[in-house]
Amino acid sequence: MKKFGKYKSVGLNGDFEILIGSSQTCTICLTETEVPGIAKKHAVLKRIRDRLFIQDFGSKSGTFIDNYRLPKNNWEEIVQQGFKEIKLGNTPIGIDDQLFRGRPRIGIKTTDLYYDISGKIVCNGVYIKAKPGTMTAIMGPAGCGKSILLDLINGYRTPNTGEVYVIRDNISINVHQDYKIVREWLGYLPQDDVMIPELTVYQSLNYCLKLQFTKLSQQIREYIIRQTCQNLGFEEARLEKFLHTVIGSSESGIRGLSGGERKRANLAHELISMPLVLLLDEPTSGLSSVDADKIVRLLKKLTQLDDLTTIATIHQPSKDTFERFDDLLLMNYGGNMVYYGATNQAVKYFESITKTTNTDRNPAEYLLEVLERL
Ligand SMILES: Nc1ncnc2c1ncn2[C@@H]1O[C@H](COP(=O)(O)OP(=O)(O)OP(=O)(O)O)[C@@H](O)[C@H]1O
Ligand SMILES: [Mg+2]
Repeated sequence: MKKFGKYKSVGLNGDFEILIGSSQTCTICLTETEVPGIAKKHAVLKRIRDRLFIQDFGSKSGTFIDNYRLPKNNWEEIVQQGFKEIKLGNTPIGIDDQLFRGRPRIGIKTTDLYYDISGKIVCNGVYIKAKPGTMTAIMGPAGCGKSILLDLINGYRTPNTGEVYVIRDNISINVHQDYKIVREWLGYLPQDDVMIPELTVYQSLNYCLKLQFTKLSQQIREYIIRQTCQNLGFEEARLEKFLHTVIGSSESGIRGLSGGERKRANLAHELISMPLVLLLDEPTSGLSSVDADKIVRLLKKLTQLDDLTTIATIHQPSKDTFERFDDLLLMNYGGNMVYYGATNQAVKYFESITKTTNTDRNPAEYLLEVLERL
């Protein structure tokens, strides 16, 4: 297959539009010999963060994803795993994998972090090193400093001592010094959500997208909103109902989403910005263990699919939920770190240092109990 690689020169790190056609003004200019039936302005590719969309401008010979002819003047998402080739008329054009992975994946690495509030130490030498495609759980008793740690990592608070880096292409970027550069890569879900209760989920997500991507067409916004919510487990009738429910809140007296829906709505607000790092403060609090596990399963799927770096604080996860995390950071009062390593090694580690055994119990419960005795 012939590869039209010219779009490689179009800055691959940002969002862009590539116009394809025979006109000299197109980004990719192809001749009638190269692509029989090519229109002056045939099709346009658009990338928003890591998502790629295509639109046919009503060309006679058409634009095809495999054998599906795109309706004219309609944005269609190109999903990397879901297609073999894109054709203009009968001619396949190579679509470079890089177009789907416009932004290099990023990890998080810190040195030992120290932080105090009015002289009280709330982060005492905690460090973290998280790779793309992995999920890290932060656990520990209430008030031990989990939320503070997330605030230090996401750049909201600056440690007294210690540095937080985003690792991108083996280059370390200091989160606090270069916050403007890293900000759009970091998605942060606070413990208490800040959604506007009077809006419907759809309105709220739509405003969010409008503010972030000012030039996005309504059609693509709609697509991203629906796709994101589908990824969060809403399908068809449930999706419609969810999108058109008012968010509500107990403080405002407006009845709205249920607890589980609210968490997912909250998560959707983060995910539509397409972050590379997900920092989640209690994404499952207040949910039943079944709903909590659903959320963590979804997070795991997204983390692996998009190679995200996900770090979440979590309270009393069930055994299944706990085991979905790759790494565990266990904290104790005073912002102390008592364990940091593979989740599946944690129980063994504490069994050996406490000379106890955890037979069939929920490992998370066992670990928190051990912490109380340390
Ligand atoms: N703004 C603040 N002013 C004073 N102390 C604070 C402030 N924020 C947090 N703290 C204290 O810092 C410590 C760590 O708080 P943090 O919110 O990180 O705990 P946590 O582990 O997230 O707890 P939880 O599980 O309840 O969410 C607590 O002792 C808390 O009282
Ligand atoms: Mg907290």
